[in-house]
Amino acid sequence: MPLNTQILLDNRPVGEAVASNFKRVATETPALADGQVLVRHHYLSLDPYMRGRMNDSKSYAASQPLGEVMIGGTAGEVVESRHPKFAVGDQVVGMGGWQQYSVVNAAEPGALRKVDTSHIPLSAYLGAVGMPGVTAWYGLVKIIAPKAGETLVVSAATGAVGSAFAALAKARGCRVVGIAGGPDKCAYAVDELGFDACIDYKLHPTALSLSKALKGACPNGIDGYFENVGGIVLDAVLSRMNAFGRIAVCGMIAGYNGEPLPMANPALILINRLKVEGFIVSEHMEVWPEALKELGTLVATGQLRARETIAQGIESAPEAFLGLLKGKNFGKQLVKL
Ligand SMILES: NC(=O)c1ccc[n+]([C@@H]2O[C@H](COP(=O)([O-])OP(=O)(O)OC[C@H]3O[C@@H](n4cnc5c(N)ncnc54)[C@H](OP(=O)(O)O)[C@@H]3O)[C@@H](O)[C@H]2O)c1
Repeated sequence: MPLNTQILLDNRPVGEAVASNFKRVATETPALADGQVLVRHHYLSLDPYMRGRMNDSKSYAASQPLGEVMIGGTAGEVVESRHPKFAVGDQVVGMGGWQQYSVVNAAEPGALRKVDTSHIPLSAYLGAVGMPGVTAWYGLVKIIAPKAGETLVVSAATGAVGSAFAALAKARGCRVVGIAGGPDKCAYAVDELGFDACIDYKLHPTALSLSKALKGACPNGIDGYFENVGGIVLDAVLSRMNAFGRIAVCGMIAGYNGEPLPMANPALILINRLKVEGFIVSEHMEVWPEALKELGTLVATGQLRARETIAQGIESAPEAFLGLLKGKNFGKQLVKL
């Protein structure tokens, strides 16, 4: 059986996560039992939620146990099968974790999904046509529920979720404004992702300054906000929300190292009769088929062309992950294994 390089969580971060929180080991992949499949991972998905799992605190999901392979979505190929529904060469997506191979109990519901790579690249099943894409779809369709002509704003606009959000919102006839870090990301948002405008939050160190920039980009106010960041970005957007606006709270990455993220003026929720709703995409599996169908069509027809940042080799995963938390990624962060 092949040798498998794995990355384990070795110890928990105190404040910012660091490379020494992880440990690399090599083990032999075990022989397969009946019903099992051996998958060679081609891509590992790196996602912000992993930072939360590294903590040992109460959350919506159990924390990552120490000494075990880091959790993570993977896309790869079946290299050995003892399950009748999977054959060698099948392209599959699962939760294989930060390692080169995984042994999967293929009969377990949802453990392994075959994917068609004839029109959609394998890696896209971890991004636009995967969990991040469905996340954008859920917040947009089920919480913001926009009407054509409304103005929507999304933060972390050029990332895996934000880029899918833009394509889905444009398809519904909305004006879409992004908030992202740096001139390159903002140019990409407008030139390639179809945003109507994008604001570089790094030019706006205060909520007041960012709010003024939002006024220029959203002359009719903001009807829907897809929140990925928190802090002064949320304060600025709140100050520009229209009455009966909707806010889908998807992430608050500015606070993932444990920093408090106070809100400057929560009274605006009352004054503007806002709907504010948090969600976790894995708790809404019922929407995945419909969402993946729309996202798959957008990608296959070239209407959603999201960039990927691809680190090379399993050993690069920790640094690539730490970079993602600092905005070093441009689009979906993957590791090619
Ligand atoms: N609720 C759910 O079920 C669910 C599911 C998936 C993802 N999410 C959340 O969705 C958000 C986006 O995820 P993603 O996978 O698409 O990641 P991503 O946007 O591809 O990457 C994270 C981005 O966050 C931005 N960022 C990092 N630190 C920041 C800070 N302090 N202030 C402002 N921006 C910061 C960076 O972009 P800039 O360079 O533009 O700052 C970075 O590139 C995250 O908050 C994630 O936790 C939630």
